[in-house]
Amino acid sequence: MKKKFNWGILGAGKIAGKFATDLALLPNARLYAVGSRSMKKAKSFATTYGFQKAYGSYDHLLSDPNLDVVYIATPHSGHCEHTLLALEKGVPVICEKPLAINTKQVQQMIRKAKKKKVFLMEALWTLFLPHLLKIKELVAADVIGEVQSVRADFGFLANFDPTSRLFNPALGGGALLDIGIYPLLLAQSFLGVPDKITATALLGKTKVDEDINVTLTYQDQKIAHLHATLRGHTPVDAHIYGTKGYIHIPSRWHNPVSHVLVFDYATSKTTKFLMPRHAKGYKYEAQAVMDYLEAGLLESPIASWQFSLDLMRTMDEVRRQVGVRYPMD
Ligand SMILES: NC(=O)c1ccc[n+]([C@@H]2O[C@H](COP(=O)([O-])OP(=O)(O)OC[C@H]3O[C@@H](n4cnc5c(N)ncnc54)[C@H](OP(=O)(O)O)[C@@H]3O)[C@@H](O)[C@H]2O)c1
Repeated sequence: MKKKFNWGILGAGKIAGKFATDLALLPNARLYAVGSRSMKKAKSFATTYGFQKAYGSYDHLLSDPNLDVVYIATPHSGHCEHTLLALEKGVPVICEKPLAINTKQVQQMIRKAKKKKVFLMEALWTLFLPHLLKIKELVAADVIGEVQSVRADFGFLANFDPTSRLFNPALGGGALLDIGIYPLLLAQSFLGVPDKITATALLGKTKVDEDINVTLTYQDQKIAHLHATLRGHTPVDAHIYGTKGYIHIPSRWHNPVSHVLVFDYATSKTTKFLMPRHAKGYKYEAQAVMDYLEAGLLESPIASWQFSLDLMRTMDEVRRQVGVRYPMD
């Protein structure tokens, strides 16, 4: 019989609710405890989603001796501090993306996980979705030949609020860290670490990037064209182009999708691969975390520490080029 894991959620915000809904679908996950800065909010969250315990502080949640794993769902600016707190107490962590604000913080978190020998993973949920795993399989089987380029976007119209986590530099605001990370992770998955990064952005009133374009180039003549914006809805789709054909991931490509299309250049034929579309899509990463913990792993082979570090190094360079600085830099 599989172990049942006592899950904790740290930070009772919007994504925490979605994650909890998916967690409830997994037979070996127990909705155990939630920690919030406010006891009232913790109790209300626990009642809504069916958690056994509610704590009015993050420290109290992490001090519960029966906690098996914690999902950190605070704004970007809290990820490093809250992860370090959990790791210090020996609690395995899945932390929302981006893993932190900058490379220095990510390195600190990885060092702590190594030192304490405690599991740590960035919640790069897209990497665990069935369609992305299928695409990796197709690419490995040479179905589209050698990958030459990646094109992906992610944009939506956000209501301007200088205090919100999307626009406030103190919370790590801007399109890049919130949604630009998705096109970047797709490029990194299929083309690796870029040799050259070129970025342009429009900074808004709060001096964070509200619209950002990133071109990644690679020594072997490969390229990625990536776009993220808070200033309007975009198609949110993606293409992976190879020497023999291309793969199209329809909108919204970073979520569970109904299908992916493979176009073959030689025959001009399109093949459609239907995809399961269960739940919101967070259950796959959550299940993977439990499997890793059961296997005694400290990191995920899919969303590895190196993968997170490489992603953050690229984002640091993009921010340097476009002039976005946070107080914690
Ligand atoms: N994977 C995905 O699909 C996805 C989607 C959306 C967001 N995210 C990530 O999840 C994280 C949270 O996003 P969200 O949309 O859930 O944000 P949110 O609704 O604002 O929730 C964040 C929670 O963090 C806690 N918090 C701690 N310090 C805070 C501070 N200084 N200001 C505001 N809240 C603070 C609050 O919980 P308490 O008051 O209970 O302590 C708050 O409810 C972000 O890093 C984001 O990138 C991921």
